[in-house]
Amino acid sequence: MSKPVFVLLHAFPVNSSMYDDVRSALSDFCELVTPDFAGFGTATLPDAEPSLDVYAADVVALLDDRGVEQAVVGGTSMGGYVAMAIARRNPGRISALVLADTKATADTADARANRLGVADQVIAAGSTDALARAMLPNLLGATTHASRPDVVERVRGWIESADPRAVAWAQRAMAARPDSLDDLATFAGPSLVLWGEEDAISSRAEQAFMRSELVDGHYITLPGAGHLSAVEDPAAFVAALTPFLTRLGN
Ligand code: MLT
Repeated sequence: MSKPVFVLLHAFPVNSSMYDDVRSALSDFCELVTPDFAGFGTATLPDAEPSLDVYAADVVALLDDRGVEQAVVGGTSMGGYVAMAIARRNPGRISALVLADTKATADTADARANRLGVADQVIAAGSTDALARAMLPNLLGATTHASRPDVVERVRGWIESADPRAVAWAQRAMAARPDSLDDLATFAGPSLVLWGEEDAISSRAEQAFMRSELVDGHYITLPGAGHLSAVEDPAAFVAALTPFLTRLGN
């Protein structure tokens, strides 16, 4: 039986390097594709008004280029928001969803205002160093902070190397995103919700909101991992995905 194509989308404000430690193991079970969002990693800055639909359209174009009609689509946090944007606009392109450390609700007014402030701040500073200092405490779980300083420094490096213009664009795009709970309720395929138990950004309650909408939802928690579970515990991330991907391939 052929392996499913799996498009796995990265979080903010990092890039597809966040999947370096899971790429090889996951490739035993799927044709893994881990693109960079426009402006991050090796991808050029978007030339459009900020909207996650721009990233979503890029993913659909990537499927078109590869001649792939349907794929497993998933992502971590912002990557999950984009997967849900694809589920809203192009549901027929998704055979199954993977939602890792993410949420389906839109921002509150305060969260939106904060994002727009951060966007202005990184542009004014011309640097993401302060953003890295501000985000790292919550981006990684307590276990990682206590026991894996190498992982903390690796993630810091990804954030500090991000282009401030891409970071500002992504913040403005996320601030404008709609609620996606209804899109999850109408998605008929299987879905896997993965959550690091020390995730301080996407709450446990948000996971319950998604689970209550999904028609064929499966839920796995990863103890000792935070918001970037694929980076913090790659082996557990792969182990959680393996049975899900294997079933899809059969
Ligand atoms: C992410 O990890 O992608 C971000 O925490 C998403 C967000 O800022 O909502």
